[in-house]
Amino acid sequence: MTDPNRVLIFDTTLRDGEQSPGATMSHTEKLDIAEMLDEMGVDVIEAGFPIASEGDFAAVSEIAKRAKNSVICGLARAQIPDIDRCWEAVRHAKQPRIHTFIGTSPLHRAIPNLDMDQMAARIHETVTHARNLCDNVQWSAMDATRTEHDYLCRVVEIAIKCGATTINIPDTVGYTAPRESAELIRMLLERVPGADTVIFATHCHNDLGMATANSLAAVEAGARQIECTINGLGERAGNTALEEVVMALKVRHDIMPYTTRIDTTKIMGLSRRVSQASGFLVQPNKAVVGKNAFLHESGIHQDGVLKNVETFEIMKPADIGLHEANIAMGKHSGRAALRAKLKELGYEMGDNQLRDVFVRFKALADRKKEVYDDDLVALVQDTTTNT
Ligand code: KIV
Ligand code: ZN
Repeated sequence: MTDPNRVLIFDTTLRDGEQSPGATMSHTEKLDIAEMLDEMGVDVIEAGFPIASEGDFAAVSEIAKRAKNSVICGLARAQIPDIDRCWEAVRHAKQPRIHTFIGTSPLHRAIPNLDMDQMAARIHETVTHARNLCDNVQWSAMDATRTEHDYLCRVVEIAIKCGATTINIPDTVGYTAPRESAELIRMLLERVPGADTVIFATHCHNDLGMATANSLAAVEAGARQIECTINGLGERAGNTALEEVVMALKVRHDIMPYTTRIDTTKIMGLSRRVSQASGFLVQPNKAVVGKNAFLHESGIHQDGVLKNVETFEIMKPADIGLHEANIAMGKHSGRAALRAKLKELGYEMGDNQLRDVFVRFKALADRKKEVYDDDLVALVQDTTTNT
């Protein structure tokens, strides 16, 4: 990468996202989503975990064959058969990547019952094996944020020496906080020999609601790959949401001067497609892609946006591919919004007529959570025939 401020976007909706209980997607849905991610400008698509099932293997292989622009990556545990199976699936891609990982924290080392030296040897063996198959190898220290710093430096150095080209530092259980996330990346860049020859990645989970902040803090400290998912889909409280980090970097470019190559106008389409395929509804107040993210109901806000949209909007809906009305009619709405809404529906009315409709609209809004366009049309028609 020539631009030092370029941040790679690594999307793992089809791997970590699909690991959410109940989010399984069909083969066709996965191909469809991968095609959309490829067109959107995602740098790396983690398409699945090839050894996990025949279905995952088939999806990763097919996505690898079809991808035009993105690097296609598959996940593999630190085991030779996993890595071989992963390579079999991704090798069809124009730009394949093997992503291998192992849990390095004390809690995770206890699971395979490996001591520090045995785990270091395993990392040496598996990263070397992956690199003999593929030029593009990512290595992840699962639960890195709860791993002793000295040991983390040691194993990262081994992975780099054995040929890993990307080093991922996951906050697997969403435990870290922004300052700590930045300090960890800074510490590794300073202490590990060869750190300047690889790309450091940040992979955050959202258990404490800090995944976006932690990812951005890591970037400010020198990480140049953000791992994320559409709608923040992922196990437990999910992963860093792609739409949040990408729009944060775009909107606050003044203080975070990093660039991605994401076509942000494709965000809304992908959000809807992933929600539909996974069956996971997007919460209405979800940042960037929630149904209410650009909707204004209160009279003061509506009056403000009707006069100057920037009073209550920090990004343009069109920038994320949203072209729907931004005014929601409810009991907090004012006369100016009602007039504008009715005009949009084709009704231009004088002050007296508007006053009558407004009184009836308020009465209806008190009974109903939201007043829809059809309700307004019925109300206008009823008012005009009865007055
Ligand atoms: O959260 C995590 O640690 C992971 C690894 C497999 C990279 O998803
Ligand atoms: Zn993860």
